[in-house]
Amino acid sequence: MNIFRFYPLFLLLLLSSCNLFSADEEKEVHKIYPSATNVDEHSYANISKINTVHLSLELDVNFKNKSIYGVARHQMHNTGVDTAIFDIKGLDIQKVTLGKKDFEINTDFVIGKEDSILGAPLSVKIQDTTKLINIYYKTTELSDAIDWLDPNMTQGKKHPFLYTQGQAILTRTWIPTQDTPSNRITYSADVTVPKELMPLMSAENPVAKNDSGSYHFEMKQAIPVYLIALTVGNFEYRRLGKDCGVYAEPELIRQAAWEFNDLRKMIVAAESIYGKYQWGQYDVVMLPYSFPFGGMENPRLTFANPTLIAGDRSLVSVIAHELAHSWSGNLVTNASWDDFWLNEGFTVYFEQRIMEKLYGKDVSDMLAIIEFQELVAEIAEMNKSEYPNDSFLKIDLAGRNPDDEMTTIPYVKGAFFLKTLEELAGRETFDLFMKFYFKKFQFKTVTTEEFIAFLDAHLLKPNKLKFNTNEWIYERGIPKNCVRVESERLNNAEKMAKDLVAGKDIFTIRKKNKKVKLKREDLTTQEWMAFIRALPRDLPNEKMELVDKKLKFKTWSNSEVATEWYILGIESNYKDIQAPLDRFLNKVGRRKYLLPLYKSLAKNPQDLLWAQEVYLRARPNYHAISKSTVDEILGYKSIIKE
Ligand code: BES
Ligand code: ZN
Repeated sequence: MNIFRFYPLFLLLLLSSCNLFSADEEKEVHKIYPSATNVDEHSYANISKINTVHLSLELDVNFKNKSIYGVARHQMHNTGVDTAIFDIKGLDIQKVTLGKKDFEINTDFVIGKEDSILGAPLSVKIQDTTKLINIYYKTTELSDAIDWLDPNMTQGKKHPFLYTQGQAILTRTWIPTQDTPSNRITYSADVTVPKELMPLMSAENPVAKNDSGSYHFEMKQAIPVYLIALTVGNFEYRRLGKDCGVYAEPELIRQAAWEFNDLRKMIVAAESIYGKYQWGQYDVVMLPYSFPFGGMENPRLTFANPTLIAGDRSLVSVIAHELAHSWSGNLVTNASWDDFWLNEGFTVYFEQRIMEKLYGKDVSDMLAIIEFQELVAEIAEMNKSEYPNDSFLKIDLAGRNPDDEMTTIPYVKGAFFLKTLEELAGRETFDLFMKFYFKKFQFKTVTTEEFIAFLDAHLLKPNKLKFNTNEWIYERGIPKNCVRVESERLNNAEKMAKDLVAGKDIFTIRKKNKKVKLKREDLTTQEWMAFIRALPRDLPNEKMELVDKKLKFKTWSNSEVATEWYILGIESNYKDIQAPLDRFLNKVGRRKYLLPLYKSLAKNPQDLLWAQEVYLRARPNYHAISKSTVDEILGYKSIIKE
């Protein structure tokens, strides 16, 4: 069953065959693209010999000590070895036993050398017949997956809150596991929490609190361990359709239910494109603002950032994205983090298809263009950086943190790769291919090379199509044949920016032949973003003041538009944005906003000083994932030394 079993042999063959070439031919070798991926370089687990098939968790969530006391009972598929290796980081391992619960015998274990990114291997001594391994442990303050929040960081301000973030390699910081996406397991959990709170997992969930504080969870479909997730809070549930709904604190539940009103329609749209939703229930849970992502596709229960609640349903594409992961990512999973584009590129493509189906091509085209602009800018940056090859779709992350690949490359270049293929093959043919791909690889993991072979065999060859797949995947930048998307609405928004610079009155528009004042509601999020992006970076402050006075961007609850406005403000040295930007950075912990904002601030020594001061206050409330990246941008280690 294990796909890695043959790789060492294969690699050896590949390497030794290289030596047979003469110097001339050796040059040719560089053009040969890799035909097999290496083993997952981000896990110590020996899954080719012994791997978890089911995990039973016993978790006691202790808010006073900010620790989870856990037992992880692993049911193994053992090929007959004397050692099982798990991944751990920031965990306090108390004992390891073998055998059935209550009939357990202690066994020896060794914790290997700690790596700052990967953590350490936990090697457990077993017998060749061992099938049950029980690890008793405690999480610590170094358990980076977990965000413990004091009541004042929640909506209700009365109860504490907790959530975990496993992707990419943080599950090992709250559960000892074989933490690689290339192994799939089922899981169950018994979770105890303070009685006034409710736990929720990426599993079958309760819809109301009980009096005992103890809850049982089951995930009966096999998933990679990065999708095991837990959140604990004062939740209420609101049904939004026969198989979907939303959880939030009572203070937010009404707004959340209103914002995600189209959830059921999204599922219908997604199913009409790529086949049945396979996970039974689809719910969304609203986390606090510190959540480092817009959304996280935990199966059956998407974790969402409250910034998605813009009050006008304008940011729901993130929900379409997380729902799309129920096919790309959760059903068909990247085999290693080097293949991450198979998760995200496919998901962005599918997200745009769902948006097109529900809200029209105009809307999905605008989404695509806004992202394409970010892609172009990021590739330019990358080309100047230490890692220009990060613009390959398949990247080499050996020795690096997989969080480094959260760039527009896997997301947007990945999506445009598929859009270009769609244009070449025609939508109907392409959709049949995609449906077949999801069917063929459901509940499995895929490497980039397996995908390429599948693409050749089932789309390109049978339809006699030629495509520069290798250039897209193993070369830098954007290939020339990339599809072009045009949007008249975005062009008009950009023209509006030019008119403003030219001194024209853009704040009065014609509607049904009447002159009326331009309002925020007149343009979509993407149009406003395009408008702001098209403004020159040396825009005089009077012009910014004028826009601010007329449109009040800085008091806007739309975090996408606000972020664009703040960046323009930083780059054009418009000090009026400082107070609202300070508030924003102290409230929101979403990486997508923090990174560009702090990066822009870091470009100018004076702004950098200001940003460092803001960050000192904001940092304690960010999740570890956001902290580690912002620390680097602002040189945090050196500021605390001073
Ligand atoms: N799965 C990702 C989040 C993620 C990626 C977490 C890698 C950890 C490591 C999620 O689906 C995502 O892509 N979120 C985006 C949303 C978006 C592109 C619509 C986000 O949070 O910005
Ligand atoms: Zn995603």
